[in-house]
Amino acid sequence: MHPSKHIKSEPLIGSESALFFKRWLKNPGRLGTLAPISYRLADLAASCIQHPKTIKMVEIGAGPGRLTRALIKAGVKPESLKAVELDSDLCDFGKKAVPGVDFIQGDAQYLKELLPQEWIGHVDVIFSTIPFMCLPEDVRRNITEAAFSVLKPGGDFLHLTYNYWSPLDGMPYDQRKLASLWLNMPPAFIWRYKKQQDPLLKAA
Ligand SMILES: C[S@@+](CC[C@H](N)C(=O)[O-])C[C@H]1O[C@@H](n2cnc3c(N)ncnc32)[C@H](O)[C@@H]1O
Repeated sequence: MHPSKHIKSEPLIGSESALFFKRWLKNPGRLGTLAPISYRLADLAASCIQHPKTIKMVEIGAGPGRLTRALIKAGVKPESLKAVELDSDLCDFGKKAVPGVDFIQGDAQYLKELLPQEWIGHVDVIFSTIPFMCLPEDVRRNITEAAFSVLKPGGDFLHLTYNYWSPLDGMPYDQRKLASLWLNMPPAFIWRYKKQQDPLLKAA
């Protein structure tokens, strides 16, 4: 059976936005927006993943799993995807809504401790929807460094933001805007970051 057939739908999904809004009332800065990402945006974000069927991937700030479901629909294998979420209510929801995907409750600043040892250094792509622009710069930096510490060399760190400018501007990464969705409320942008190559290695 195709993995997307396992995804529970209507009644559960109907309560997703209500739960998200309740959690936003408790913690607006951490959630960043009062609703999960739109379905169209989730599909656009998932379409940015190259070779989805063969990669090992980690999603951070997975919330109730809307992007997670789009990633699986796009071909990412549930067993090759870990979803990390700080809020325990949203994490519990994600576990039920996307069976087969390992939802891990925890802070992405400590990603290395949250993932199984055999994943460290072997992750192809990390996708973040954590609201960086609401977080202090040191937390933003900790999360990014944690992400690069588990990515394989040359791996991609993708980030979805509602800010036109890159939230990691000025940090030592190669940065590229991969996609924009202006007809979203609010408009959204997807960035890709890569570790800058050592200039000595580049020249060799
Ligand atoms: C804008 S929501 C994204 C929701 C989700 N990806 C979706 O598909 O709708 C941001 C999520 O990041 C989570 N978050 C914020 N800080 C975090 C952290 N340090 N570690 C893990 N998750 C975090 C929030 O709890 C929230 O669920």
